[in-house]
Amino acid sequence: MSADLKINIVFLGAPGAGKGTQAANVAQELDLVHIATGDLFRQAQSQDTELARKAKYYMEKGQLVPDEITIKMVLERIGESGCSNGVIFDGFPRNLNQAEALDNALADQGKTVNKVVYIKVAEQELLKRLTGRWICRKCQAPYHEVNSPPKVEGICEKCGGELYQRADDKEETIKERLQVYFNETAALIDYYSREGKLLEIDGEGKVAEVSERITASLKEEFVR
Ligand code: AP5
Repeated sequence: MSADLKINIVFLGAPGAGKGTQAANVAQELDLVHIATGDLFRQAQSQDTELARKAKYYMEKGQLVPDEITIKMVLERIGESGCSNGVIFDGFPRNLNQAEALDNALADQGKTVNKVVYIKVAEQELLKRLTGRWICRKCQAPYHEVNSPPKVEGICEKCGGELYQRADDKEETIKERLQVYFNETAALIDYYSREGKLLEIDGEGKVAEVSERITASLKEEFVR
């Protein structure tokens, strides 16, 4: 696939579906900026700001951070240099209000959401993935203690950072996050499907197999 495509792609799916894992691969392959709202909120926690405190409060409960905070953060980020070639949005939008805000902001720049990669995974598998996940404190790369362990225990292969388990990956909080996903985010499947933008991908199987399905599907859309 050509790396000079100017496209905006949304990665959609339940918590643990593999959005972060797959979005990072596609962003690298297509030389697009990868914007993951969860990562931005977690990175903000290293400073004692109002945004960090508010985000922490909602994330620990497994609930969505209020739209006025999230939308402002994303719109500021896409206004920064480097984003003009295109962006992979991972974990944003998460409800219809956010989707409309993104559509309007992109339209103001003469752009649009070109495609939405919807990664579909059964609920039982999501639980296994999240309870076994470790992420890098420095670069946020995800690992799994069984499916994709790091070469050296506790150390990120990409940057040497320390691996830790997210506070919201406790079973009780995962259940709340799944509930929020079904109540608020799943509506976006219909929203983007009606616009003819949805690419539904089977997210089960090995990471590399899912990557191949996504790449093949995007190639079909963008390579003539
Ligand atoms: P966020 O960080 O976005 O979490 P999430 O959407 O719940 O998604 P996850 O990061 O849990 O999963 P993922 O799909 O990226 O899976 P991953 O690739 O890591 O959001 C956290 C919180 O921030 C929210 O609850 C909310 O409070 C707030 N927030 C974020 N965005 C917001 C927004 N727009 N509005 C309001 N609030 C917002 O993979 C999971 C695990 O599975 C890993 O261990 C991985 O190694 C493994 N794995 C991946 N693929 C496979 C595979 N094919 N086979 C086996 N294992 C696999």
